[in-house]
Amino acid sequence: MPHLFEPYTLQGATLRNRIVVSPMCQYMAQDGLVNDWHRAHYASLARGGAGLVIVEATAVSPEGRITWGDLGLWNDAQAAALQPVVDSIRQAGAVPGIQIGHAGRKASANRPWEGDDHLPEGVPNSWTPIAPSPLAFGGDLPRVPREMSLEDIARVQADTVAAAVRARELGVGWLELHMAHGYLAQNFFSPHSNQRTDAYGGSAANRARFLFETLAAVRKVWPQDRPLAVRLGVVEFDGKDEAMLDEAIGLLQRMKREGLDFVDVSIGFNTPKARIPWGPNFMAGTAQQVRRATGLPGTTSWYISKPDEADALVREDKVDLVTLGRPLLADPHWPYRAAKELGVENAAWATLPAPYAHWLARYR
Ligand SMILES: Cc1cc2nc3c(=O)[nH]c(=O)nc-3n(C[C@H](O)[C@H](O)[C@H](O)COP(=O)(O)O)c2cc1C
Repeated sequence: MPHLFEPYTLQGATLRNRIVVSPMCQYMAQDGLVNDWHRAHYASLARGGAGLVIVEATAVSPEGRITWGDLGLWNDAQAAALQPVVDSIRQAGAVPGIQIGHAGRKASANRPWEGDDHLPEGVPNSWTPIAPSPLAFGGDLPRVPREMSLEDIARVQADTVAAAVRARELGVGWLELHMAHGYLAQNFFSPHSNQRTDAYGGSAANRARFLFETLAAVRKVWPQDRPLAVRLGVVEFDGKDEAMLDEAIGLLQRMKREGLDFVDVSIGFNTPKARIPWGPNFMAGTAQQVRRATGLPGTTSWYISKPDEADALVREDKVDLVTLGRPLLADPHWPYRAAKELGVENAAWATLPAPYAHWLARYR
């Protein structure tokens, strides 16, 4: 029976265990460039013992950033700055992954600790968000996006492919397309934000078109032996989840036939009216449902923090991998602590680099 510390192989990638560092924006970049902050942050997470470290949502174009502090991968200088992060993750024994995406109508926001709200038109570091339809998210994000033309759609898809090519050339081992959390792909997928009357709106198949085409285009340039994943918001908690889940499963089945390897099951976050039932491991049942219905291997995150519970999610076949965010910010060595708690043999050597493991293996 698989468990949290059993290695996991998908295509050519082998993870030393089932623990994934969830992509987490740091909002610490200037011009989309990696700096000291990111180098220390990602090295520390990888040295903490996770099997896969997914670099934060990285924008495929300047207007695709959530805030001015997001990382970007739309030019070669950004790719060069990212190289040491990719290398340090691999050197620490983890598979280096990256999430690429476009923020859609949630773009041009303040950094979270500076307000988390939309920057108004015309102030420094502000730009006009773009989205399938001129509909604002609402609440703290009141900016009405510019409706994308067919040329805009083709350009964002080409930008996504170009970012994937840059990630490929950097030696990234796992690529995740961000199709969740109220950003551009989710904007297309959801009737809350998509009221187009052309081929990209209306029916479920039309609302899925942008997502499917983007996946298909990236698959053509992303090597077959490196996993290609999507993070998709499959429920919105807005009272219409049965229909949304059906549509999400249908889309994932089509994507799987097109070469999708893995899914991170997440939440839409595309309407302020959602009533989300936060609680420990609360998305695990949905993840299992999506995995069973699609046959895709998958994961989920959201309030998974206890080692025994994380282990049980794998043993009970709810997920293939367990994805953690905040617990790893609190303690990058969570995998080591979990290995000790779960009685893994040589817990320190199984999770930590030699300069730590040598000492901690003898320290009680
Ligand atoms: C600081 C921070 C930044 C985040 N940035 C991203 C991101 O870049 N991409 C993404 O898909 N989710 C992002 N999320 C969501 C996390 O990936 C994760 O799904 C969420 O925190 C739930 O997991 P947790 O309960 O273990 O923290 C972010 C969360 C946090 C706390």
